[in-house]
Amino acid sequence: MNIQYNKSLLAYNTFHIDETASEFTIVKDEHQLFEVLRYAHEQQQEIKIMGGGSNILLTQKADCLIVLNQLKGIVTAEETDTFTDIQFMSGENWHQCVRYCVEKNLGGIENLSLIPGSIGAAPIQNIGAYGAELKDVFVSLTAIHTKTLQKHQFNGTQCAFGYRDSIFKHAEHRHYFIVSVTLRLQKKPAFNTDYGDIQQVLKEDFNDQRSLQHISDAVIKIRRSKLPDPEVTGNAGSFFKNPVVAEAHARQLRQLFSEMPSYPVDNGVKIPAAWLIEQCGWKGYQAGNFGVHSRQPLVLVNYADAKGADILELSNKIITSVQQRFNILLEREVNIW
Ligand code: EPU
Repeated sequence: MNIQYNKSLLAYNTFHIDETASEFTIVKDEHQLFEVLRYAHEQQQEIKIMGGGSNILLTQKADCLIVLNQLKGIVTAEETDTFTDIQFMSGENWHQCVRYCVEKNLGGIENLSLIPGSIGAAPIQNIGAYGAELKDVFVSLTAIHTKTLQKHQFNGTQCAFGYRDSIFKHAEHRHYFIVSVTLRLQKKPAFNTDYGDIQQVLKEDFNDQRSLQHISDAVIKIRRSKLPDPEVTGNAGSFFKNPVVAEAHARQLRQLFSEMPSYPVDNGVKIPAAWLIEQCGWKGYQAGNFGVHSRQPLVLVNYADAKGADILELSNKIITSVQQRFNILLEREVNIW
């Protein structure tokens, strides 16, 4: 176990925020993980787990032990004529695992191409894009409770997946370190091309051919055209969730804003946060070295050396203006540290 002190986290978060951690360590296998968890327990040191660092905004020094998850490994857990269950270790990069499946012609996660982050983070917020969600392919995960050091297995029902949500986002289940995630991939996949942009790219770029590779490539193209590349411009993807309002509220708003896009969902009507933020005049807003992305206002960006606290304050201003104009309370998707 190698603990580094006052370590800069700049290289480990896609928002490119330069805050430090009082203690920092990397775990590459389960033996190291247990060693670190025992140490934290003995020292009564709080730990925070980092994967790809793509869904956090650092707003202050992390006065804790940051554990960088680099648990690697991919194995076939079960195989039948129709599906293959693959167990991915949680430190694997999500997108590389998507491409691994696409190359093996195993379907189910191709629409989730190019989502930044690690396998372990994927179930925590039930990642989703272009008509697919992690929960659709999820079989189970194993996790170690960081205080009792007990290993547990969770199936989909136990994870209680919702829109960008699972039990692991809530206080009583925060103390789990996800070790591995098993997904069920289909050998004869049904292609999910309902999303208009996907159909358009398939038509224009791929002569309307359908394969996992084509769909993955189409999603990559769409994401690159709309979302800022975190390698170039600091960001953490969607900063806010798309809000769901009651049907009566949506009806009222439609009378005032006839062009407002909205989608019926189980528990009400989903309204794109991007539209609400754009209507409040924030699209492309820039204050010095940070701002709101010009093609996707759901994404806040760090152009260079911004402070996380400034970006947090900007998000508060956006929340207030959307609340005042539409009486809708935007919820952050990104975790604030
Ligand atoms: N829109 C605007 N102005 C804009 C952009 C979009 O009004 O500048 C409106 C349009 O009506 C558009 C709608 O927003 O039809 C939806 O936009 P988009 O398809 O880009 O998706 P989104 O709802 O804004 C969600 C996810 C993304 C995911 C895309 C594609 C959330 C919080 N975000 O965004 O996820 O890639 O759908 O499926 O659900 C992420 O979580 O980090 C992320 C990028």
